[in-house]
Amino acid sequence: MHRERFPGLRDGWARLDGPAGTQVLDSVVQAMADWMTSGRGANSHGAFAAAAETDALVADTRAVVGRLLGADPAGVVLGPSMTTLNLSLARAVGRTLRPGDELVCTRLDHDANVAPWLLEAERSGAIVRFAEPDPETLELPAGNVAALLSERTRWVAVTAASNAVGTVPDLPGIVDAAHAAGARISIDAVHHAPHRRLDVTALDCDALLCSPYKFFGPHAGILWARPALLAELQPDKVRPSSDAVPERWETGTPAFETLAGVRAAAQYLLELDWAAVRAHEDALLAAMLDGLGAIDGVTLHGRARDRTPTVFFSVRGHAPVDVAEALAARRVAVWDGNNYALELSTMLGLEPVGAVRAGTVHYNDAGDVERLVEGVRALAAA
Ligand SMILES: Cc1ncc(COP(=O)(O)O)c(C=O)c1O
Repeated sequence: MHRERFPGLRDGWARLDGPAGTQVLDSVVQAMADWMTSGRGANSHGAFAAAAETDALVADTRAVVGRLLGADPAGVVLGPSMTTLNLSLARAVGRTLRPGDELVCTRLDHDANVAPWLLEAERSGAIVRFAEPDPETLELPAGNVAALLSERTRWVAVTAASNAVGTVPDLPGIVDAAHAAGARISIDAVHHAPHRRLDVTALDCDALLCSPYKFFGPHAGILWARPALLAELQPDKVRPSSDAVPERWETGTPAFETLAGVRAAAQYLLELDWAAVRAHEDALLAAMLDGLGAIDGVTLHGRARDRTPTVFFSVRGHAPVDVAEALAARRVAVWDGNNYALELSTMLGLEPVGAVRAGTVHYNDAGDVERLVEGVRALAAA
């Protein structure tokens, strides 16, 4: 779908590396170029027109991102990457933790939603408990998280979708369980964002993070949290910068030209036909699972019923990097390794080499999947 809107696809590669960063939408490129050529670029909060336009750009980007997430824009923090923002959130939470407090992470998560919490537990004397996905399906039912909760649990950190195997956990059930235990919950929606809409108001989570470069925009990060929470927690910041929410969470001078691109990417997602995206992606996923699953020597990791079109597989007798190189020779781009899903890769016994990840988004087509399957079939038969 909409392939013509992605200039980076014109070189003929089958880009199955979307989970590591998607191709950039034409209107995103244009919005960033327009901003930089307009002469309106200035620092913010100044006494002249360009500075006021920059303030308006920031406010409007928050508003559009807020609409996209079904969220109060006053809780939208714009930053360089999800990892940076999550380290900042966890650091601020860490200041409130006491020895004996507990945090719950999962073995399905990207390390950007694990390591920040481990660091704070180490600093404060809190304990991190890990929710395990089902070893066969790699599904994460709410009960697997709920079983770890107690009155000592302060925060739960969970993914909205695994960037390695695509599992979509039972988020509403996990949010309810966390709140019933009196804990707060933060959701990593980085991998989820290009595939499905999420509404933080309906979901009732306390914080959610995503990255525009995973949804057809530029490299940047987004943290949304309840404005009251952003006021209650104390982030690291320099003294002269604003202490208002959400600005006090945005350290340094924002990448304003990037925000013009973030706004354009969020606008695109707001206008997408999500039912059509889902149907298209489900068909691509089925084709990947059927095609790869039929090849002797291929092991597909996980078989969650609810998942994004992301597959993680090993080929008998071939290191993941060799598979990725063989596919690259056919101009098929996939990732090898653990994709920073370190806990999962360790749980599956795949470390240190990990496996091969191929992920589709709505701009991929059946031809991309055929080239993947054909390339793996040829290698497995060699
Ligand atoms: C699920 C998930 N969470 C977090 C991250 C980290 O995002 P960022 O690169 O914006 O720090 C990634 C990046 O791959 C990811 O896939």
